[in-house]
Amino acid sequence: MKKKKRKSILIPFFILTLLVVAGVSLYIYISGADTRKLKSIGYDSEEITFIKEHKIPVDLLSKYKHISRLTEIVNNKNYDNDLLEKYLEVYEDGYDVNTVIYMVNNNITYEYSERLVSLIENKYFVLKNLDRYMSYDKSDIDLTVKMVNCNRDYEYYTNTNKTDTTKGLLMLVNKYYYLDQDYVYGDLVEISRDYSNNSGSKLNSEAYEAFKELVDDAEKEKLHIRNNYAHRIYSYQEGVYNSYKNKSGPVYADSISARPGFSEHQTGLALDVGVETKYADDKFQNTKEYLWMKDNSYKYGFILRYPEGKEDITGYNFEAWHYRYVGKEAAKVIYENNLTFEEYYAYYVDK
Ligand code: DAL
Ligand code: ZN
Repeated sequence: MKKKKRKSILIPFFILTLLVVAGVSLYIYISGADTRKLKSIGYDSEEITFIKEHKIPVDLLSKYKHISRLTEIVNNKNYDNDLLEKYLEVYEDGYDVNTVIYMVNNNITYEYSERLVSLIENKYFVLKNLDRYMSYDKSDIDLTVKMVNCNRDYEYYTNTNKTDTTKGLLMLVNKYYYLDQDYVYGDLVEISRDYSNNSGSKLNSEAYEAFKELVDDAEKEKLHIRNNYAHRIYSYQEGVYNSYKNKSGPVYADSISARPGFSEHQTGLALDVGVETKYADDKFQNTKEYLWMKDNSYKYGFILRYPEGKEDITGYNFEAWHYRYVGKEAAKVIYENNLTFEEYYAYYVDK
């Protein structure tokens, strides 16, 4: 009687134990399913720990073959958790992780290619120009970026736009960006005869203050820099351009003179300099004053606007005498990096 009672207690206990063991085993089996799945794709235990720690959905990963640089993708400073699926769609072994992330983050849908990577990695890459870089017919990446940034994939005086005058001292006026007929930047002041070879020339007041300082400092080195021509109104520029055109034809005129509305002389921020008592523009490059201006004018906020060797970007022959006031900060970057204002504007002002 006593024996029977013990047996009846043991049986349910045994069943319960069995159920618990089965449950635990099932739990262990199920929770190990992700690990087994990841292992079967090729992830090692370190990677699996990383995947679990970062709660990366295993179902998502199992749609792809082993992503060899998954940790690099997730740890990238520009990684966006919501875009993981897109990164994985684009990524292939050998691809640059930074580029993949950049492409996805910026919705770039071009196929991954060496050209695309080189473009994106180029120092002066501007995202909004990507389509134009891709269709520009040059293999040289530096040249492609430079030319497209400066609109040189377009013919001169095509695709023209009114310049954004809210850029102030950094507004760009060239063969693609023009000014309204009556536009002038800030206030104009007359340049004193102490600083000019003529009376009546006007310059923007801030540029004038900087120019005076420049001339005074150059004088200390016995160099005599003077203004020859500064602000020009639209109709005056029209006269200048037309007289070249009538005399020597439009090709020549376009190489040395802006068409009306397209001259930065109209802003009041540009001036042509010469040496005291000498007017001639084309002799200026042979003077000590030019050598000084070339390497020092940036300290006062001026840049040599149409440098030698950059004719294809600026659209003008070398003009040793033409300087543009852009402020000290921009002038320093332009000088130190040997940039034209067009290149600077594309990358630093209008990106
Ligand atoms: N000579 C410069 C390009 C002008 O006409 O504005
Ligand atoms: Zn000029």
